[in-house]
This record gives sequence, structure tokens and C-alpha cells, in this order.
Amino acid sequence: MKCYDIACIPGDGIGPEIVREGIKVLNAAADVEGFALNYTHYPYGGSHYLETGIVMPQDGFQQLRQHDAIFFGAVGDPRVKPGIIEQELLLAMRTELDQYINLRPARLWPGVESPVKGAEHFDVQIVRENTEGFYIRTGAAFPSETGERQLCATVSRGLYDCSFDIRSSLSSGDAYGYNLGLITRSGSERIARYAFDLAQRKGISKVSCVTKRNAVPQMYSVWEDAFDAVAADYPGVQTEKINVDAAAMWLIKKPADFGVLLAPNLFGDILSDLAAGICGSLGFGAGGNINPNGVSMFEPIHGSAPKYAGKNIANPVATILAGALMLDELGEHGAAQRIENTVETAMREGAFRTHDIGGSDGTDKVGSIIRDRLLQEA
Ligand code: NAD
Ligand code: IPM
Ligand code: MN
Repeated sequence: MKCYDIACIPGDGIGPEIVREGIKVLNAAADVEGFALNYTHYPYGGSHYLETGIVMPQDGFQQLRQHDAIFFGAVGDPRVKPGIIEQELLLAMRTELDQYINLRPARLWPGVESPVKGAEHFDVQIVRENTEGFYIRTGAAFPSETGERQLCATVSRGLYDCSFDIRSSLSSGDAYGYNLGLITRSGSERIARYAFDLAQRKGISKVSCVTKRNAVPQMYSVWEDAFDAVAADYPGVQTEKINVDAAAMWLIKKPADFGVLLAPNLFGDILSDLAAGICGSLGFGAGGNINPNGVSMFEPIHGSAPKYAGKNIANPVATILAGALMLDELGEHGAAQRIENTVETAMREGAFRTHDIGGSDGTDKVGSIIRDRLLQEA
């Protein structure tokens, strides 16, 4: 029997609760389709960091590289300074493993009311560039009033060398911080190509390129030029370029007008939460961090929602759907489709309602309902 080797990182807050439900459903889909999933659990996250003083061991990425895929919950622990675990685990995974595609599908599920009018047919594929932009982890902070650089200054190891001093143009003694953004032609082309291929594969007529060349021309001219060059290879696909501010407005005003939304890193981050809001909750937003030639990582797009941790009220659907994305990427299309179909019919029939959409069904109950229905429908 075919067996996939999955690295599992439940993480912080609601992470362990939602991952448990994701695994329940993944295992059911595997049973039905006749393959196996073998999980190796890694304890990374806030508690591990507080206990050991390290986010990950030195050979952490080497270990992760041995697996077929990574199934991830969420990180972010209020006891740890913001950014440490997020940067050194989550963002580091995306860059170290070159998961340059962040695929974040968003659709309004039947039975869920959107806060936005006209969202009944909202169904977009957000394709977020995942390794460049303002996420290259290169910058520094000079937080003291004397303007002296402090050790905590650089948030983490920078990925790119840079050294310059902008103090001369600031008022003396002012605290300051900066981050560099980087966009490359090759990085933009490869993600644009993925977006167009996805549109073709899914029969989506339009790719919208999110940009902001008017305010940040150096980076986004490279981004737009790469988009135009790639678009020329796909004459059958409609295209548009849209500034991120306008994109946010149009998503609310005409949500059903979008198909594939291709966005640079930071804009894709923001718009994917906006899209989840249109879908009624962050608890429905799944994401794949994909390296087509390497090890990919699958997670809900939301965070560790500390206020819900341990209460059994988090919505596990995003994580369950992230599991489906993982199976699809592993080539188990039938199993992935089963999970999606089961979620769809369960939602349509009102089989459960989680706290975030006004219901009271617990995290574990939702996972069990989806698992049982998947097995029954097989
Ligand atoms: P968040 O996504 O954790 O939560 C924002 C709000 O969305 C929550 O308060 C909750 O109301 C709702 N929500 C999120 N997930 C939900 C779910 N499954 N079910 C029901 N409701 C849900 O964002 P935040 O509050 O900005 O961040 C909390 C922590 O998570 C921070 O430490 C942040 O850095 C981290 N974070 C991690 C990831 C990740 O690991 N991928 C993503 C985003 C934020
Ligand atoms: C996400 C998160 C991360 C991001 C944070 C936790 C660093 O918001 O996965 O969307 O900004 O990419
Ligand atoms: Mn985000």
C-alpha cells in the first residue's frame, strides 16, 4: 500500500485542536482510497521555544526535507515576543523550502451567510507569491531614543546582505526601523506562470494581477513586466492589473467578478484574510505553501487564535480543507475531491454550525461529522 510520510507541526493556540480534526478526516479519505499516511509529530511552537530557547534545531529543515509534505496548524504564542516563532518557523519554512506558491482558495460555502452582498458566487483562487516582497526578512530596528542600534534590532537573520545608514536624514536621536522589499523577475515569472496554469486547469477565465506600481514603482514594475511577459503565453486567458487598494474595494463591491487573484506577498496576505471575511470566517480559509519540486506545507490561513485555545470552539474546516489541498498536491486527487465534496454537502445540509458562524458545534464534533459522512458516502 502506498504510504505518505507527513511531518505534522500542530503549533500553538488552537493549532493542536484543529490539526487533530484534520488528521481524522485525512485518515478517513486515505482509508477509502486505499493509501496510508504516516505522521511524524514535531513539537515546534511557543512552549517548545520557552522550554528549549530555540525555535527549531539546527537540522530542523533537513528533517523536514525528508518528508513527503508538511501538515501545519498555526503558531503565535502571547508569551513570546511577536514575530519570533512566526519568522523563524513559518516564514523560514516558506523560504528555506522554496515554497514559492501560496495557494489560498476562497469560496462561500453553501449555508454560510456572507457579510457582503452579492457574494453567493464568490469563488476565487488567491495565488500569493510566498518568498519575496516585504517578507525577505531583511531589515533593522533602532528602537532606542538615542538612535543606537540594539541587539534585538534585526528581527531575525536577514536573507540578503544590506548595510546602509539612513540616520543622516532623520532627526537626531529618533528611533527607527526599516525593512527591505525585493521582487525579482524570475520570482515573479514563476508565480505568474503558476497562476495562469491554474486558471487553465480550472477553467477560470480571468487572472487579476494585484500591484501597487504607483506608490512603489521599483518593485512593482518588475512584478508587472513579468506578468505581461507570462500573460503573452496565455492568449486565451483574460487579464487585468489592479492596484491593491482598488482590489480591496472591488472584492467587497463585486466579489463574484474575480477568478484567479495573483498577488505579491504582503498584498496576498491581506487580501486572503479579506476573502476569508467575505466567506464568513477565517475558519474556512485553507492554504498550500507549494514547491512543485520540493516539500510543500499545508495549513489554514488563520493564526493560533489564542482566545479560542483549549475551548473546543475553533472551526476546523480550514485545516480539513488544507488537508485536501495536501492530498491533491501529493497526487491523491480522488481523496482530495472526497474531502471537498463532503464538506460541501455537509455545509449545504447544515450538518454542523461552528461558533464563528453563530452555531455551537465543537471543533471535535465537526471533524467527526465530516469524517463519518465521508466514510458513509464512500
Ligand atoms: P488569527 O487568525 O489567529 O485570529 C483572528 C481572529 O479570527 C480570531 O480572533 C478569531 O475570531 C478568528 N479565527 C481565526 N481562526 C479561527 C478558527 N479556526 N475558527 C474560528 N475563528 C477563527 O489572527 P491574529 O489574532 O492576528 O493572530 C493570533 C496569533 O496567530 C499571532 O501570534 C499571529 O502572529 C499568529 N498567526 C499565525 C499564523 C500562522 O501560523 N499561519 C497566521 C496568522 C497569524
Ligand atoms: C499568514 C500569516 C503570516 C504571514 C504571519 C503569521 C507571519 O499571516 O500565513 O497569512 O504574514 O504570512
Ligand atoms: Mn495572514
